[in-house]
Amino acid sequence: MPYTELGGQKIYYNIKKAENNKAIIFIHGSASDSSCWNKQLSLVLDYNLIALDLPSHGKSDKFATLSLELYREAIKSLMKSLSLEKIILCGHSLGGAIVISYYLEYPEDVEALILVGTGAKLRVHPLIFENLKNNFQEFLNSISVGAFYRKTDKEIIKRYIDDVAKLGPEVPYADFSICDAFDELDAIKQGIIKVPTLIICGEADKLTPTKYSKFFHENISNSYLNIIKNAGHMVMMEKPNEFNQIIEDFIKNKLN
Ligand code: COA
Repeated sequence: MPYTELGGQKIYYNIKKAENNKAIIFIHGSASDSSCWNKQLSLVLDYNLIALDLPSHGKSDKFATLSLELYREAIKSLMKSLSLEKIILCGHSLGGAIVISYYLEYPEDVEALILVGTGAKLRVHPLIFENLKNNFQEFLNSISVGAFYRKTDKEIIKRYIDDVAKLGPEVPYADFSICDAFDELDAIKQGIIKVPTLIICGEADKLTPTKYSKFFHENISNSYLNIIKNAGHMVMMEKPNEFNQIIEDFIKNKLN
């Protein structure tokens, strides 16, 4: 299985290889793992398609302390180990905060950003923390209504919740704490993001409402906004065909 290392610990990634060193790196959100991008690994593009398991998630090793900086450095480590020169970074929710943080630290590495169901600030509802602390089952129960559009295939939701249940409450608690502390509203307002940026959001997203995506679009000059109907927060799993078409169009028509 492909791994990169950070501080002597293993970080897993899933890869669909291309015959060049161009890459799109997909970063999942809180309480998730690389499998949320399974449908995106079939994108028809001449890029290496790489979905990372963040530290302590999926098949990656457990790390003692989780932070935005650690997650950001996991991407840097992957980039170095695969000798990638320029990357497109696609982040969902917490993953969006991570890719923005990466861009602010290493702008020269980034060809373009794809911001999916995310925001420049990601305050978390206190009930989420309360349930993670005192009632994990209630947290799990809230996922189907909170994270998915009501008509989403029940099997997709069930598989997702089963994976979160395996992860347990501590890692999600750390992830949501990182989201809650994330605030780059001012930096984004000042026009700090200069690379082409694709913004995608489900119309029925309750966790990162479309207002957050519209804010990106208004403040990133070279940006393209797509709001997908009948989709919630997990838009890339809920509407994979539409989602993939938007990414393929963006890369073929706006980058090349
Ligand atoms: N982009 C644009 N505007 C944003 C924003 C973003 N990413 N994040 C917050 N804002 C705006 C809000 O819309 C609000 O504007 P208003 O005063 O005009 O209504 C203002 O900034 C303050 O919002 P916020 O910082 O979120 O504080 P709050 O006390 O109003 O609400 C919560 C706090 C937790 C109730 C709210 O953020 C929420 O419902 N969050 C979504 C649910 C959640 O937990 N999501 C998880 C994200 S990982």
